[in-house]
Amino acid sequence: MSKEILRMEHISKAFGGSKALDDVSFDLRSGEVHALMGANGAGKSTLMKVLAGVYMPDQGSIIHNGNVTPIKASVADAQKDGVAMVFQELNILPHLSVLENIFIANEITKKSGYDWKTMRKRAKEVMAEVGIDLDLDERAGNLPVAMQQMIEITRALNLNSDIIIFDEPTSSLTMQETDSLFDLIRRLKKKGVGMVYITHRMSEVYQICDRITLLRDGRNVFTDDIKNVDNQRLLSGIVGSDDTNQFPEKVHHIGDVIFEAKDVTVKGLYENVSFQLRDGEILGFAGLAGAGRTEIAKTIFGCYKPDQGEFFYRGEKLHIKSPVDAVKKGIGYVSEDRKGEGILAVRSIKENMGIANMHRLGKNFHIRQGQEKEEVQAMIQQLKIKTTGMDQCITDLSGGNQQKVCLGKWIMSQPKLLLLDEPTRGVDVGARADFYQIIQRLVKNHIGVIVISSEEDELIGLCDRIIVMRDGHKVGEFEDTEENLKEKMLKLMLNI
Ligand SMILES: Nc1ncnc2c1ncn2[C@@H]1O[C@H](COP(=O)(O)OP(=O)(O)OP(=O)(O)O)[C@@H](O)[C@H]1O
Ligand SMILES: [Mg+2]
Repeated sequence: MSKEILRMEHISKAFGGSKALDDVSFDLRSGEVHALMGANGAGKSTLMKVLAGVYMPDQGSIIHNGNVTPIKASVADAQKDGVAMVFQELNILPHLSVLENIFIANEITKKSGYDWKTMRKRAKEVMAEVGIDLDLDERAGNLPVAMQQMIEITRALNLNSDIIIFDEPTSSLTMQETDSLFDLIRRLKKKGVGMVYITHRMSEVYQICDRITLLRDGRNVFTDDIKNVDNQRLLSGIVGSDDTNQFPEKVHHIGDVIFEAKDVTVKGLYENVSFQLRDGEILGFAGLAGAGRTEIAKTIFGCYKPDQGEFFYRGEKLHIKSPVDAVKKGIGYVSEDRKGEGILAVRSIKENMGIANMHRLGKNFHIRQGQEKEEVQAMIQQLKIKTTGMDQCITDLSGGNQQKVCLGKWIMSQPKLLLLDEPTRGVDVGARADFYQIIQRLVKNHIGVIVISSEEDELIGLCDRIIVMRDGHKVGEFEDTEENLKEKMLKLMLNI
C-alpha cells in the first residue's frame, strides 16, 4: 500500500447556526484517486475547501506529510504546502488572458518585474502535459466552459502540488475531454500525486478511483476500497434510502405539434435545422460540445437572430426580439453556464427566482410580494432545496442546490416552452429523480420541454424522442423505442 500523505481528523465547520461538517475524517495516499461522494449539500466541497485553505474549520486537525498543518484560512498557504483545488464553480477571471489566469498570484518575476518569457514557456509546457494548446493571449472569458476548466487544471499543475482536488471536474466536459482528463489523472497517479475526486457520476468512480468516502449531512458514512462498493450500496448511501429508481415511467400521450423550427440557420453556428416538438413529449438533444445544441436553444430564447428559417408556436410564427421578449412570450431557458448566465451571484434565492417572474408577479412597478414569497417557498419545498431560507444568498448554497434554484425560477414562471440546457449538472442522484418527475408533470400540463444533455443515459431515460447534432447539423432523430439507441446515438455524435 502506498504511503499516507494526508489525514484530516475530527473536522467540524458550521455556517451560522447550521453544521456543514460534523466530526469528519478523511485520508489520502500518494498516487491514489480518492472519490468523495454524497448528496447535494452533504459537505463535500466544504471539506475540501477546508483542506485548500478557503475555510477555517471550527475544530479538527490536518496532517500533511507527517506535519500538522497550522490551520489558517489562506489559499496561498495551502498552495505553498502543495495543495491545489480545481473548484466546482470555476475561478477564472474572464477579463484576463489565459496566461495571466494560469499564473495569477503565482507569477514568475525577475529583477525588472514579471518574467513573461519564462511564464509563457512554462505555460506551454504545462498545457502540453494537460493535453491542450491554447492561445496564451486569448481572453479567458471568451473560451468555452470546458477550456476554462482546463486552464484551472493547468494552474493547479503548475503549482507542482502533491495533492490535487477536483470538484466535479467533468460536469462541463465532453466525452473526449473527459477521456483526456482521465489520462492525465492516470499520469499524475504514476507521479505519486494524491487526488481527491468529487463527482455525482458513479461510472466515473469505477473508472478511475481507488477508494471512496461517502458523506451524508456533513458526517462520514463509510470509506472503503472501490472493489468493495457496488452501485446499490453507493446509491442507497447517497440517497439515504433503498428507493433508487431514477427515471419515472414514461407516459406517452403525444398530441399536436406545439413548437416547430423550420430550416433555421445561424451562420457560423449551425445550419438548416428543422424539428417539431409535440404536446406531451419530452424532446432531447444529443451531441458533443460545439455541435450547436446550446446555440439553437439560445436562438429560440432570442440571443441570436436566425439568418434563415422560422420558429412557430402552435402554428403561429414566433418573433423573438431578445431574451426579455422571450420571457414575456413564455419561453424559459436554463443555461448550461450557471455561474456566467444562470445566477445573480450576490442575491438571495428569492431574488434569483423572482427575476424571471417579474412580468407575471409585477403590477404597476410593484412585485406582489406575498404571492412571490409563497411561490418561492413552494419551489424550495418541491425541489428540496437545502437552505436556511429564501433570503439566503445563492452563492452560499452547495453547487447542486444552486442548480435547483435556476430550475425552480423557470418552473415558477409557468412557461409555455422550457429549454433545459444540461439541467442536472452537479445534481445528486436522488434530486435528479425529483427533477425528472417535475419535468414530466410540466409536460403533462402541456408545457413544451426540450432537454439538452451530455449524458446519453439521461436523454434515453427521460425523453420520448432524441435529436442528434454534430458540427452544426442535425444528423439523426430517434424515438426512444429504437433498439440499441445509445450505440446509434454515439455513432452519429462521434461520426464513427
Ligand atoms: N459560504 C457558505 N455560507 C453558508 N452556508 C454554506 C456556505 N458554504 C456551504 N454552505 C452550506 O454547507 C452545506 C454543505 O455544502 P457543500 O457545498 O459542502 O455541499 P456539497 O456536498 O459540495 O454539495 P453539491 O453536491 O451540491 O456541490 C450546505 O448546506 C451549504 O448550504
Ligand atoms: Mg459541491
